[in-house]
Amino acid sequence: MNNPFKFGGQVTGEDFVDREREITELVREARNGINVLLISHRRMGKSSLLAEVIRRHCNDFIFVYVDLYGVTNKTKMSELYLSALVNSAYGTLEKAAAGFKTLLMASRFRLTVNEKGEPGIEFSLGEPTTPEIQAILDLSEDVAKRRKKRVVVIFDEFQEVGFMDGTTLLKAMRARIQTHKHVSYVFAGSKKHLLLSIFEEREGAFYKSARPMDLGPIPDEDMERFLTDRFSAKGGRLGRESAKAIISAAGGNPFYIQQIAYELFNISIRPRWPEDFETALSTALEHQTPAFSTLWDSVKSKMQRRYLLAVASDLGATRSTSFIDRHGLRSASHVQKAIAQLDSRGITERGEIVDPLLRLWLRRLTSGQTGRSG
Ligand SMILES: Nc1ncnc2c1ncn2[C@@H]1O[C@H](COP(=O)(O)OP(=O)(O)OP(=O)(O)O)[C@@H](O)[C@H]1O
Ligand SMILES: [Mg+2]
Repeated sequence: MNNPFKFGGQVTGEDFVDREREITELVREARNGINVLLISHRRMGKSSLLAEVIRRHCNDFIFVYVDLYGVTNKTKMSELYLSALVNSAYGTLEKAAAGFKTLLMASRFRLTVNEKGEPGIEFSLGEPTTPEIQAILDLSEDVAKRRKKRVVVIFDEFQEVGFMDGTTLLKAMRARIQTHKHVSYVFAGSKKHLLLSIFEEREGAFYKSARPMDLGPIPDEDMERFLTDRFSAKGGRLGRESAKAIISAAGGNPFYIQQIAYELFNISIRPRWPEDFETALSTALEHQTPAFSTLWDSVKSKMQRRYLLAVASDLGATRSTSFIDRHGLRSASHVQKAIAQLDSRGITERGEIVDPLLRLWLRRLTSGQTGRSG
């Protein structure tokens, strides 16, 4: 039987739960020309939320969605940007060719068609220069004015721009973006540290140029209903306590909620509590083991490792003397330093482990349940 739970990648439409308030807010800010900085922990549902906004409002705005995940250079970024713009503003190669006549005359671009028949743009020679990138960004403003329709440019994983050319590129982009009156921007990403340094620090290239919006978990009741409804729709039954346990083990993270539910559904459409739930949770943890092991191996400092293991299983106040003594953490300043380093890597936030399943995995590591020695 088809498993109704989906994890990894964007979910929209029938698979999309709640987020009504966030959708309303994003649309309102887009209309008002207020740029938004959308931040959340990993896999909290940013890209799905943005995809759902696009799906529901594709007639109200011209959306230019640019996913910068894995993009390491300006050429690729410009191609993605232009292809997204050409696609949503023109749709066909002929229309795009007419619309971009002056741009194409510069002859550094070539119109292309991908496997799906969608028009795109490729750079012919070398990397685009800063003025070229600025001219490319200005195209959205032109399109918006000509079409008399607001353009919404969405940069997903925006922090990646910072790795392409230091702050030079960011500053060049900001210089154009702030002149655009008919384009609204959404900058999204999960590297909170980096994004806040770009948007919230005085020296940041985008200082105060977007309204921060933190995306938290989906309310428990909505997730509970989603889980129980999906089991019943397939002729099964999921008890309330199992639904609650899934959400709690996943720390409210929708990706993990769907992953655990997926495993549970595979075991039985009428799972038994708690044994089937335990099996599903262990399977979900096993799937994360390669990623968690890599992360764990990358933590070289003994103090940071001790701290992580301690904070995963001990609910005591992390800076208290008894906590420090219990876990051999030497002194409050050692703890402070470990937290600062783990925070800067995004593994912890103010000393708390960010990823709920990593926390569980570390807890099991100490008790020898993960099938791996430390
Ligand atoms: N509104 C939602 N309803 C149901 N499931 C959701 C929702 N949002 C996210 N999910 C679940 O979480 C997974 C990850 O979502 P998504 O890729 O949108 O998150 P993200 O914050 O963009 O992640 P990343 O940090 O990896 O970019 C989805 O595949 C889906 O399983
Ligand atoms: Mg994403």
